[in-house]
Amino acid sequence: MVANRLPVDKVVGDDGTVTWRRSPGGLVTALEPILRQHTGAWVGWSGIADSDDNPDIEGIDIHAVPLSTQEIAEYYEGFSNATLWPLYHDVIVKPEYHREWWNTYVEVNRRFAEATSKAAAPGALVWVQDYQLQLVPKMLRMLRPDLRIGFFLHIPFPPIELFLQNPWRTEIVEGLLGADLIGFHLPGGAQNFLYLARRLAGQATSKGTVGVRSRFGVVQVGFRTVRVGAFPISIDSGELDAKARSKAIRARAAEIRAELGNPKTILLGVDRLDYTKGIDVRLKALSELLAEKRLDPHDTVMVQLATPSRERVDSYIQMRAGIEQLVGNINGNFAQVGQPVVQYLHRPVPRDDLIAFFVAADVMLVTPLRDGMNLVAKEYVACRNDLGGALVLSEFTGAAAELKSAYQANPYDLDGVKDAIEAAVTQTEQEGRRRMRVLRRQVLTHDVDKWARSFLGTLAEQPSTTPSGGRGVELVPPTKDDES
Ligand code: ADP
Ligand code: F6P
Repeated sequence: MVANRLPVDKVVGDDGTVTWRRSPGGLVTALEPILRQHTGAWVGWSGIADSDDNPDIEGIDIHAVPLSTQEIAEYYEGFSNATLWPLYHDVIVKPEYHREWWNTYVEVNRRFAEATSKAAAPGALVWVQDYQLQLVPKMLRMLRPDLRIGFFLHIPFPPIELFLQNPWRTEIVEGLLGADLIGFHLPGGAQNFLYLARRLAGQATSKGTVGVRSRFGVVQVGFRTVRVGAFPISIDSGELDAKARSKAIRARAAEIRAELGNPKTILLGVDRLDYTKGIDVRLKALSELLAEKRLDPHDTVMVQLATPSRERVDSYIQMRAGIEQLVGNINGNFAQVGQPVVQYLHRPVPRDDLIAFFVAADVMLVTPLRDGMNLVAKEYVACRNDLGGALVLSEFTGAAAELKSAYQANPYDLDGVKDAIEAAVTQTEQEGRRRMRVLRRQVLTHDVDKWARSFLGTLAEQPSTTPSGGRGVELVPPTKDDES
């Protein structure tokens, strides 16, 4: 496994003591249970500068890649999170293009490829993860042609017109084409990539539409056949379901409700503090619903749990200030003394507590402006074996394609979001149970194990080279610049 982050982050206390804490984000949530079932190596960064400590994790052979302070600023905060992240998320904020950031991105990708090349056994299967490491597949193939290489993108792959902004667009497409299998969450991302492989890398690709875990696209790179597919990621739904049924979690959920003053309605948001998540959208919707008396401030509490994220990147600093101002406004306008309407925690919450919050929440608010998948939505559903609760879900998440029985809304349409929240709050018990049953069927039958098996199974069955093209697949020739 090769990912920007190790599964755990290194934390150094004021007295110099070192502890390791679960890394933030959906990538680790998804991959951690998979590596628990398989033995293997994990190549990644420990989350702080200049550290090559390898934490001891049973069954996983850790290979830390040290990053300097400057590399963190230019490769991680810069090119990964101030160039690629906004570019791949609909340019919600303006991507910044700096040549020094790009050069450091190339350099750090090379370092990851070299570390992987040393860690991998002959003929090993290597799975490279996410947008921070898009050059690694090609670099690694040059170092170790014996390896079978997969790549999975955990965030959305952007529309073609946006991708073309990137001054280093061709290098990125060629970097990815070093893999044997390239996975996206949705068929649309795979289709966009196929077009760009024709246009930017000048390669022939297959015709026809890509399916979900089926009808893979093909890019012919010399004698190599690269496959391109859609594999919607998921969670360890069975484990969450079991935990949510436990007595301890049920008791903690009841305690949370009591601590919140036993309101009629608990609304919940759980996110990394990121501008893609639409936390402002749900706060504005709440504020207007309260002002219009469609929600009662005496009987409604919204809990927003927000993990700190990328705290030195300008756009994140500004967004945090905006959100905290909105929270202050709502409480200033609608709260009673000792009874805030919005309870906002800017810190990660322990896993068991989080599950208890999911069990306690009457309505889960998932309102991203754009999100590759959004695992929080699936986690909430997995925790509701009581068939209670309701999910309000942005149409612009990957999860929306699978969770059709949620109360879906366009996050840019504030009236639509308000209507969806009101419908969720006022649903009848019967309607709620009906919707939750359908949602749970999807989430429990499509778990992260199914995701990993479908990706790795496809990767394993693929020969790394074929003597003559796409094995009977009809190919479209490269697209010239003047063609659409
Ligand atoms: P992303 O990968 O963009 O962060 P996802 O929704 O796919 O978004 O995954 C986020 C993961 O982080 C989920 O497993 C979620 O439970 C966890 N998480 C988010 N916010 C918190 C929080 N405040 N405390 C603890 N875990 C959190
Ligand atoms: O799932 C998207 C993702 O960006 C992962 O690649 C990443 O590890 C996670 O979210 C959290 O972000 P960061 O590593 O920047 O804290």
